[in-house]
Amino acid sequence: PVPPATPQYRPAYHFTPAAHWMNDPNGIVYYKGTYHLFFQHYPEAMVWGPMHWGHATSTNLVNWQEKPIALFPDSLGYIFSGSAVVDANNTAGFGKNAIVAIFTHHNPKAEKNGQNKFEYQSLAYSTDAGNMWTKYAGNPVLPNPGIRDFRDPKVSWHEASKQWVMTLAAQDRINFYGSPNLKNWTKLSEFGEKVGVHSSVWECPDLYPLTLNGKSYWVLTVNLNNGGRNTQYFIGQFDGKTFTPLSTDTKWLDYGPDNYAGVTWNNTGNRRIFIGWMTNLQYASALPTSPWRSAMTAPRELALRQVGNQLLLASQPVQEVAAAFQAPITLPNVTVSQEVDLTPKLKPVGDKYELKLTTQQLTDFSLVFSNSKGEELVLGYDAQAKQYYIDRTKAGQSSFSDKFASRHTAPRFANTTTADLILLFDAGSVELFADQGLTVMTALFFPTQPLSTLKLRSNGNFVVQKLTYASFTSKL
Ligand code: FRU
Repeated sequence: PVPPATPQYRPAYHFTPAAHWMNDPNGIVYYKGTYHLFFQHYPEAMVWGPMHWGHATSTNLVNWQEKPIALFPDSLGYIFSGSAVVDANNTAGFGKNAIVAIFTHHNPKAEKNGQNKFEYQSLAYSTDAGNMWTKYAGNPVLPNPGIRDFRDPKVSWHEASKQWVMTLAAQDRINFYGSPNLKNWTKLSEFGEKVGVHSSVWECPDLYPLTLNGKSYWVLTVNLNNGGRNTQYFIGQFDGKTFTPLSTDTKWLDYGPDNYAGVTWNNTGNRRIFIGWMTNLQYASALPTSPWRSAMTAPRELALRQVGNQLLLASQPVQEVAAAFQAPITLPNVTVSQEVDLTPKLKPVGDKYELKLTTQQLTDFSLVFSNSKGEELVLGYDAQAKQYYIDRTKAGQSSFSDKFASRHTAPRFANTTTADLILLFDAGSVELFADQGLTVMTALFFPTQPLSTLKLRSNGNFVVQKLTYASFTSKL
């Protein structure tokens, strides 16, 4: 039975399927002015099941249109996560500029029979801009070598070595493969021994170049079911064969609980745009929404930043999303010694908006979003611990999972006394981008009434030079 509908939790600028289950973003590719977003989808229930690739498109990364299902399970198995490329030179022979999807076939029968070789990589292609899809008759193109978890191929063209490179999760390692034509794959190398966090199998990896001060680097991101801090990244070099990290410390693209399986769009030129599945495997199947289950994060632009001797990956909301908030209310010089109620000035606080704060001297503070039921979401900075935090222990419904009522912290990397914060709210989700995206946190919350009161608290003397509140407007 489908639980009663919860339109109050339906976000406006975060993609959700109209109904039923969704997990990872898949096959995300930019093609002739359109951003394609395929996704893990079970169109018959609000829980995980035989996986399909659902499909949505957008021209602005803000408004999404759901399309018919692109890929259905077949005799080789369910359609698990993967990527899509534009085959500009027709290397695969499906047509010039065909969109080619490279995905994992997961064979549930083979898995049940205790076989190891139940995940292998396959192709499908579209020659009409992503509407109609044909599975390649020669599937699978990369058979399983005897590794149980062997999935989530992220493929892109590596110009320097003139080949397609596949980044694949294999147990808790990354396997790199190369191919001239997307059909024949040769193993290049492995990554992950004695480096990174291995609390569960590695999933949904990604490899992409980014430049800083004219120097180019390769970033490897790896997702794992870690209960929060789910996307680790390594910055290094990739020579067409081997990925060599500059540092073996583990860093996280997002320190909040609700960002998983994130990858970046292919074919976006110099832009590197990331999107994740905005939930956590610990309670994804129990989220109190209906008739859909789960949303994607806001799309984020990635960049490298140098802080002291650390090279870091920063994310910011894409400019298209930033432009969707209008009629800003700006409050200059808000001084807080104990508590200031900002609600009257923000008349009252809505549930789909952007809040920006800048301060000259960052000290302890908290933003308390609450309602008359006594539910509150607290987000702030702890100067002594040098940590940002999000506390949703009392932010509303949480009985659906004993893992949900939680407090999360994130290190501050910026070494300046000035700070700037961007917060995006969209009906039950908050995304924090601190210090121009050096520290990022994403968290869901389910208040039983909107959190329309906002108070700013501090036990020191905290001055916000500028606070800007702007509501989401659907028409761009
Ligand atoms: C991550 C994941 C992937 C897999 C897919 C199956 O959430 O487990 O590794 O391809 O979901 O739906």
